[in-house]
Amino acid sequence: MRSAAWFGDGATGGKLRAFSHRSRMRQLGYLPEEHLGKPVIAILNTWSDINPCHMHLRERAEQVKRGVWQAGGFPLEFPVSTLSETFQKPTPMLYRNLLAMETEELLRSYPVDGAVLMGGCDKTVPALLMGAASAGLPALVVPSGPMLRGHHRGRTLGSGTDLWAYWDEFRAGRIGECEMAQVECGLARSPGHCMTMGTASTMTAAAEALGMALPGSSSIPAVDSAHHRMAAASGARAVALVHEQLTPAAVMTREAFEDAAATVLALGGSTNALIHLIALAGRVGVKLSLDDFDAIGRRVPVLADVRPVGAFLMEDFYYAGGLPALLAQLAQVPQALHPERTTVTGKPFASYYSGAEIHQPQVIRTPQDPVSPEGGVAVLRGNLAPGGAVIKHLAADPRLLSHTGPAVVFDSYQELQQRIDDPELGITEDTVLVLRGAGPLGGPGMPEYGMLPIPAYLLERGVKDLVRISDARMSGTSYGTCVLHVAPESHVGGPLALLRTGDLVTLDVPGRVLRTEVDDAELERRRTEWQPPPPRFERGYGSLYATHITQADEGCDFDFLAQPGHNPEPNPS
Ligand code: FES
Ligand code: MG
Repeated sequence: MRSAAWFGDGATGGKLRAFSHRSRMRQLGYLPEEHLGKPVIAILNTWSDINPCHMHLRERAEQVKRGVWQAGGFPLEFPVSTLSETFQKPTPMLYRNLLAMETEELLRSYPVDGAVLMGGCDKTVPALLMGAASAGLPALVVPSGPMLRGHHRGRTLGSGTDLWAYWDEFRAGRIGECEMAQVECGLARSPGHCMTMGTASTMTAAAEALGMALPGSSSIPAVDSAHHRMAAASGARAVALVHEQLTPAAVMTREAFEDAAATVLALGGSTNALIHLIALAGRVGVKLSLDDFDAIGRRVPVLADVRPVGAFLMEDFYYAGGLPALLAQLAQVPQALHPERTTVTGKPFASYYSGAEIHQPQVIRTPQDPVSPEGGVAVLRGNLAPGGAVIKHLAADPRLLSHTGPAVVFDSYQELQQRIDDPELGITEDTVLVLRGAGPLGGPGMPEYGMLPIPAYLLERGVKDLVRISDARMSGTSYGTCVLHVAPESHVGGPLALLRTGDLVTLDVPGRVLRTEVDDAELERRRTEWQPPPPRFERGYGSLYATHITQADEGCDFDFLAQPGHNPEPNPS
């Protein structure tokens, strides 16, 4: 075992350092027989007082430890940085790679044989998986689980999705401040990550579909007793993973990523998953591209009727049978899943879903009666997005999916916020709203600005959607005709930087096109006039980020992390 390099073999084995390490284990209060010769399982916990999505994980780590002890392992909890989607600014996406680095380096530098990764809120699961993949130690995810349904005056509320909807009603003057105060208390009312099909529900499901979490684990509500049992079972399984030396790279194969992509699309999941899965695949040397998602999306139906694409919430999805029930349906679609590949259970992927039944057919659909016959995400290209752009067209107004209109261009989100309600801009339902300077470098960190606000005077007239284009991301809980992740971003001179208010822009989702009707010669002329904006950071992590971040179509990983490879093991003796 790897940890034996720290502690020596047996009670007196090894050299001076092993003696020193054992004496410090005594200082920690452990008897030799409690840990020597046992797999050391690091529990990486993203719990924090500031993260409501993970507020139960401090206590839940105790259940993981229970499972580790019972299976003959030795658990050690490591607090790692929390990435709270709500509170961390400008966006936790700026820090995903920092948590990935922290994960990799903690696992490498301490006496650890295997890991349990505790996370859920948007960026935490991709970050933990990226780091564990690069560290190369056996690991599995304990998904934090979704919060309970929101409630307001007899209606269910979805975090994120209904936040935007009620805010627009408030701006349009249809509800008042007293009711908004009640909505504030009803939107998010238990521990757990967002219970809509946002990035958290999408990426925890992706972790399960990759085979990196126990079957059914990602759908269990955070406060359900089943979540305690799952945590204990995951701890126990981590010990077995070490004995079997089943590494993340052995589980996360090309086939696993194709299955995860199919699952994300069948869930009507978050567009953020494209960035995260491409980045994670890069860590294990799997080439996953935007075009893979587009191709898989064309053969995979949307089967989960969960907001924002559908009507229900994750609690309903769990009662309806959870991810196993959805996978069982997806498995009937030709070429959708690879049932034979291996998983952290040591069993083939088919064991995750075979025999799983749907209990509520309105929530989880069959391929014969899908929410939509095609996956919810399309990849667009054209002279505005040579590297690609992404649209969740299922959550868009069908009227706008083939549309040409004049652009109104904003250079920053602050400018947009200040000016959007100004009637002088002359925004109509045909306008194409464009936000630039919001990409990986320009944002910085690609903030979730992509659901650009609609002018209040249009909302009052009942206009609920416009074509909106940006190099930003969008919350998985958002909706509308929002073209996202335009690559390359404007900050590095992508064509979005050359667009001007009044230019005609065409969105053609069936043809997978995003272009401006401005001709090439004029665009070239504008390029000679273009000045790169000043750097966003002067020092610190931001400078490192700015030097090494890749574009959205490449997963926004750091260039020096985005490939497999092994650093030498530290020499603990
Ligand atoms: Fe944490 Fe939505 S804010 S998952
Ligand atoms: Mg989100």
